[in-house]
Amino acid sequence: MNSSDGHSNRASWSGQFAFILAAAASAIGLGNLWRFPYLAAQYGGGTFILLYLLLVVTLGFTLMVTEISIGRMTRQSQLTAYSRLRPGFGFIGLLGTIIPMLIVPYYCVIGGWVLKYFWTYLKIACGSASASTALADSGAFFSGFISSPFAPFGYGAIFILLCAVIIALGVKNGIEKSNVVLMPVLFILAVGIAVYVCCQPGSADGIRYYLVPNMDALRVDAVAASGEHVRVFSWMQLAKTVLGAMGQMFYSLSLAMGIMITYGSYMRREDSIEKSVRRIELFDTLIAVIAGLMIIPVVYMFAVKTGTPIRDAMNAGPGLMFITLPKVFADFGSAGALVGAVFFLLVTFAALTSAISLYEACVASVCDLLGMKRVNATFFTFFVIAFLSVFSALGYGAWSSVTLFKMPFLDFFDFITNAVLMPIVAVVTCVFIGWIVKPALVEKEVEATGHRFTAVGLYRMMVKYVAPILITLLLFSEICRNLGLFGWRI
Ligand code: PFF
Repeated sequence: MNSSDGHSNRASWSGQFAFILAAAASAIGLGNLWRFPYLAAQYGGGTFILLYLLLVVTLGFTLMVTEISIGRMTRQSQLTAYSRLRPGFGFIGLLGTIIPMLIVPYYCVIGGWVLKYFWTYLKIACGSASASTALADSGAFFSGFISSPFAPFGYGAIFILLCAVIIALGVKNGIEKSNVVLMPVLFILAVGIAVYVCCQPGSADGIRYYLVPNMDALRVDAVAASGEHVRVFSWMQLAKTVLGAMGQMFYSLSLAMGIMITYGSYMRREDSIEKSVRRIELFDTLIAVIAGLMIIPVVYMFAVKTGTPIRDAMNAGPGLMFITLPKVFADFGSAGALVGAVFFLLVTFAALTSAISLYEACVASVCDLLGMKRVNATFFTFFVIAFLSVFSALGYGAWSSVTLFKMPFLDFFDFITNAVLMPIVAVVTCVFIGWIVKPALVEKEVEATGHRFTAVGLYRMMVKYVAPILITLLLFSEICRNLGLFGWRI
């Protein structure tokens, strides 16, 4: 039997904990450290966090259980899993396989930016380069780097190569072993920085801003009958917050990218899918909340100190990590370079373990379809990914004049995957499971080897009705938001 057979010879995790760690390592990435804090800050802190939690334990739970079960029952990656379940439905897998193939090149380019920041801070901390204020120059360092002709590609290629080496070593010897080292270090660094930040004098206001629900985020300006300007509750604002939280949930839990199907295909039958999913969600959300504690209080204090309106400082969006934080670190004085180096080392680890899972979803599909050996498939995929990464790496520099839907390449790849393809694949998967093969198939897999599926009622209702409706709404809202249709903005 070769690897394409997918059964007795298929690689497997060494146990339930290894699986949970791998799935959590995939989920915990740039989405937690950079996207979650700025979305939470924009959408009203605690209000957003509560909505997010609710979505994670209902919708996120349903989608993750579905994907892991599909993987485990077919012992296939997503490219071939759907046709194994029902001949004629292989197109879902094909569509789904395009997603990690498009994401991993640009994700590694961003990984390369993080690597560059880590390296620069390390050099400053070791005294071999000028002070950390060099990076705190209102974006000149960042834009200079991402628009330079070769460096973004070079750093991105190093990042892809790191992933390739770990993947080529195999599921147990590569992915599992790297997670055992990287994840505990990541957790310790995150907690360490969060504690350091929360102990800074004056951090309490920022912590409150981040964690206490701010209902004003759900209000909009209006003019009362008396002509007075007032703030009133807006259903539209609530809908935007829910959809923002839902988009973040997809991103953060690594859903609809084939990763959970692939990782599920290496899971042992005696391990509990339901318990594993609950733990993955817990780890992922914990790190996202801790990331907010590392970032929001310092940005808040910095905004107060420099007289910047808090909302503007928080609304820095993606620039929060690469432009605002370096300014904050510079403000720490001599400790700044070290804090910067530790912070970007932590981000590098998070991005690396997520990129590995995206890359693995591609490699497993190639292995399952063509019956190729892992090392050859990794090598083959490396060239495809490296080639595609050129577009994202040069999209802000040499090729900045080329745009798609008015977006640079990297933003376009992000848009087409996160806003369009992922919701489509997720809806089709729910309809496929809910109405074609029927939820009982997934329930049987969750209950394999004597486990009880405690949330079975919730699962059935979500997969058949609620999830397809919510995700369809997400699809439309994401398209409108990204293309600026109907005046939709974050
Ligand atoms: N879940 C990971 C993160 O939060 O960064 C991995 C990931 C999600 C990668 C979404 C890429 C992506 F578009």
